[in-house]
Amino acid sequence: MFSYFLALGIISTIQMADALQSRSIEKSFESIEQQEGINARVRRSIGRQDCGRLDPFLMLDEMMGLGGNSGFPDHPHRGFETVTYVLKGCLTHEDFKGNKGVLNEGDLQWMTAGKGILHSEMPCGDGQARGLQLWVNLPAKYKMCDPRYQELKSKDIPKVEKDGVMVAVIAGKAMGIESKVYTTTPIYYLDFKLQPGASHFQEIGKTWNAFIYILDGKGLFGNVGGSKECSAHYTLLFNQKGDGIRFENNGSEVLHFVLVAGQPIGESVAQAGPFVMNTNDELRQAMLDFRMCTNGFEDANGWKSENGKALIAKLAK
Ligand SMILES: *[C@@H]1O[C@H](CO)[C@@H](O)[C@H](O)[C@H]1NC(C)=O
Repeated sequence: MFSYFLALGIISTIQMADALQSRSIEKSFESIEQQEGINARVRRSIGRQDCGRLDPFLMLDEMMGLGGNSGFPDHPHRGFETVTYVLKGCLTHEDFKGNKGVLNEGDLQWMTAGKGILHSEMPCGDGQARGLQLWVNLPAKYKMCDPRYQELKSKDIPKVEKDGVMVAVIAGKAMGIESKVYTTTPIYYLDFKLQPGASHFQEIGKTWNAFIYILDGKGLFGNVGGSKECSAHYTLLFNQKGDGIRFENNGSEVLHFVLVAGQPIGESVAQAGPFVMNTNDELRQAMLDFRMCTNGFEDANGWKSENGKALIAKLAK
């Protein structure tokens, strides 16, 4: 009798674990600081030469120590989206259509470059800014769409906290709450903070690609018993065997990371720096359009950002 119930208990435990099978880490690597823009430093997660892209994601950079004499002066984009999320300090941006604004701590800018954007991104004043920039590819049918912005103040990004797990839902849904951000392909972009001892299972679409970039602390990722310990500045790439990803903070500090997942677009990618198209012919056209100020780059003719000019003047002193 006793062993019969014990066996039943074991069976139901196995069935429960079966219902929520975590994907496992396929590859993990540490991001070392590198130079970007003017005097700016980034840690590149996906999009590095040795890691490559993860369809539909092209790149993720952690931007850090952005202060007085640094920034990303005037540069173009075509064919994809840049998603800027400020963790600390503040960033200003200006584009060639006269759009400008400030992103403070916790604020988000989801910019769909479409057929063309020329813009600048700079830290405010002399403060030290920290943030993330994710590049999301666009499917062929949206690559030449009109540019658009979705800007969310920190208070507009839904957040929930339960049993030591806090999530800010930048895109997609988690823990019963959903983001208002519109994405052309289904995407989850989740900012998680786990207190010591907390654990969580985040569901993800079966066919989606997923990765995690750890910002602070360390934790365990994967199924109980088969998990792996990883720490800050590591990128974790997951296999597709499972309904989601399980994670746990078994350390003594807060574990802070972003989980990024999306449905692959499945199209060919031709990239030359800030232009991301499907074919090399389209890339050549993008470079020509930028140089000739045509097909979406009309307003680039003679345009220079105010904050870009200010940085160049400061550096010339
Ligand atoms: C967390 O778990 C890992 C893997 O089991 C172990 O190596 C590590 O010592 C644990 N950390 C703490 C603080 O107990």
